[in-house]
Amino acid sequence: MNAIGLDIGTGFVKCVSDKKQIKFPSIYACRQLATWEGRGVVEAVGDEAIKMAEIPNTRVKRPVMLGKPIDEKGFEKLVVKAIEMSLETNDALGKSLESNCIIVVGLPYEAKSHAANIKKMITRLFSPKQCTVVAQVLGTLVDVSLADAVVMSMGHGTTEVVVFKNSSPIKGISIHHAVSEIMTEIGSGKTAYVNQEIFTEERTKPHIMSLADALIDDLNHMRQDMECLPIVVSGGGILLPGMKEALESKLGTGIIVPKDPVMSNALGLFKLAVQSC
Ligand SMILES: Nc1ncnc2c1ncn2[C@@H]1O[C@H](COP(=O)(O)OP(=O)(O)OP(=O)(O)O)[C@@H](O)[C@H]1O
Ligand SMILES: [Mg+2]
Repeated sequence: MNAIGLDIGTGFVKCVSDKKQIKFPSIYACRQLATWEGRGVVEAVGDEAIKMAEIPNTRVKRPVMLGKPIDEKGFEKLVVKAIEMSLETNDALGKSLESNCIIVVGLPYEAKSHAANIKKMITRLFSPKQCTVVAQVLGTLVDVSLADAVVMSMGHGTTEVVVFKNSSPIKGISIHHAVSEIMTEIGSGKTAYVNQEIFTEERTKPHIMSLADALIDDLNHMRQDMECLPIVVSGGGILLPGMKEALESKLGTGIIVPKDPVMSNALGLFKLAVQSC
C-alpha cells in the first residue's frame, strides 16, 4: 500500500509519499504554438510553467487562491503532477500503484465546503483505496508529534491559526494576511515569490515586520484562555528573515518551528495516510 500526503498551497504544491518529497510552484501556463512550431496549444505546470512564462504569448494562471481551488482545470493538473511525481508514475503501469494508495489531502480551515468536490476529483482521477480531506494544519501538528497546541501556518495566500486539543481542531481562522501581501506591497510579478532572494532585500524588511504585527493580533485572540498551549508555526512565512524573532518578541514567549516548515503540513498528512494503511 502506498501512502500520500498532499498540500496544494496558493504558492507551492507539496506532496510526500513513501518514495519522495516534492515541491513545485502552483502555477499553470498555456500558449498557442506559432506557425513554424506546429499546431495547437501547449500546457505546463510548476517549474515548466515558470520557464514557459518567459515566452511572450504565454497565459499564466494561479489555480489556487487563498488556499482554495479557483480554476478547476489548472487545479486538476497540479494534483495529477504532484501524485505522479511522488509515486514516480506517468504510465499505465503506474495506474495500479495509484489505485493502491491512501491519500490524505489538507485544506484551509475555512475551505471545508470544497472537501467533497476535491475528494470526488481525486477518486475520479486515481481511484485510490481511500481519500480523506482534513484541515491542513493537522499535518503540522502530527509532524511535530503534538496533540495539544496552537498551530499557525503562514502560507503564500493565507495564514491559518487553529487550536488543537487531543488532536481535534476545536477552533480556527484563516486570515488573508500572508506572504503574498509583501509581494503586492513591493509591486513584484505573479511568479516572483518562487525566488526567495527577494526577501533578503532591505526594502522588504518593513513589510515583513508589518506582517508579523498583523498576525500577532489574531494569534493572541485565538490563544485567549489557552496561553499555556505551545505555539507551533509552519509555512514559508516563518522562513522570512526576522519573522521568528519578531513573533517571539511580540508574544513574549518562544515558538516551535518544525524542521522543514514548508513541507510540514504535507509530512504530517503523509504520516496520517501511513497510519490508515
Ligand atoms: N525558504 C523558503 N522556501 C519556500 N518558500 C519560502 C521560503 N522563504 C519564504 N518563502 C515564501 O513562503 C511562501 C510559500 O509558503 P507555503 O508553501 O507555506 O505557502 P502555500 O502553502 O503555498 O500557501 P497557502 O498556505 O497560503 O495556500 C511563498 O510566498 C514563498 O516565497
Ligand atoms: Mg499552505
